[in-house]
Amino acid sequence: MNVLITGGMGNLGSRLLIPLVRRKYQVVLFDGRPDPLISSPEFEKTLYFEGDVTNLESIIQAVHQHEIDVIFHLASLLSAQSERESNLAWEINMTGTRNVLEAARLGGVSRVTFSSSLATYGPGIKEPLEIDAPMWPASLYGVTKVASECLGNYYHLRFGMDFRSIRFPTLVAPRGASGAASAFCSAIFVEAFEKGAFNFEVGPDATFPAIYIGDAIRAFLLLFDAPNERLSRRVYNVHGLGLSARELANAVLRILPETNITYTPNPTLSVIVDSWPQFIDDSMARIDWDWEADYDLDRMAIEIITQLRNRSYNENP
Ligand SMILES: NC(=O)c1ccc[n+]([C@@H]2O[C@H](COP(=O)([O-])OP(=O)(O)OC[C@H]3O[C@@H](n4cnc5c(N)ncnc54)[C@H](O)[C@@H]3O)[C@@H](O)[C@H]2O)c1
Repeated sequence: MNVLITGGMGNLGSRLLIPLVRRKYQVVLFDGRPDPLISSPEFEKTLYFEGDVTNLESIIQAVHQHEIDVIFHLASLLSAQSERESNLAWEINMTGTRNVLEAARLGGVSRVTFSSSLATYGPGIKEPLEIDAPMWPASLYGVTKVASECLGNYYHLRFGMDFRSIRFPTLVAPRGASGAASAFCSAIFVEAFEKGAFNFEVGPDATFPAIYIGDAIRAFLLLFDAPNERLSRRVYNVHGLGLSARELANAVLRILPETNITYTPNPTLSVIVDSWPQFIDDSMARIDWDWEADYDLDRMAIEIITQLRNRSYNENP
């Protein structure tokens, strides 16, 4: 099977390629940069296509040249950067998704699996967040994710495309992406380990949902592998961990007790974080494709600090 990963050099993509290569799939990484965030022996077996999702022709060319069967569409500007660069966010997240779906349709690609986000929901949602709760996002990033899901669902209804999507909470990883409002969830591990100190830009009682990156990749593969007849919908929520900043700090302190943790809330960031639910009802994913998170907070913290100590950031889901 020939698999195209848009945004394949990023946090999620450079880890997702590992199990796909192990399945003997030919993986093509479609990205604007040639180096993966996480290097691995499996990366050496992938192909690189230098391209831009805002350019329809470049995706059509990649699909055609590599006879692509399925696409994982991950290329995106993340939440904080989308607020700073709204025109670019619109181009990459909106036009980019439309281009990927259109190139898939024209190229006879059988399946597009998309990484959405819980940022699709807005503030004031009751806990636990139910999948069909109203979606009135408080960020441009969330707006683009809602619209991308709707477009994917439209391609499914109109053209029979096998569009599948997961709304991920914050991905926590030893080397995380820096453009997300939730980047502090990963940064605390790196800074505690390297500098012995971490300053939260939210207060200790700020709460948020998160998922260990290894669990996120496992979720993606479970959804990807699920027989179509088991899917009752095209878009799913997954839950990993419901955390507060204090709980996250305490998990780090249990392993690195000398860490100096401080809190200097940034009002802009706090508004975004306060709009997030802490607990997610992911029963549809559990029913339809047997989803269950493997990692609790302490297991995740031990895993991440061990990877930082070993300078090995690869996932082996
Ligand atoms: N990081 C999180 O916490 C999180 C949470 C929920 C959902 N997601 C989603 O998961 C996906 C992957 O996120 P990530 O954490 O790996 O982000 P990332 O920033 O590490 O990776 C994104 C990749 O997309 C590439 N890219 C950006 N613009 C592009 C363009 N115009 N054309 C081609 N490639 C382009 C970047 O070079 C980068 O390699 C995104 O869709 C994101 O919205 C992430």
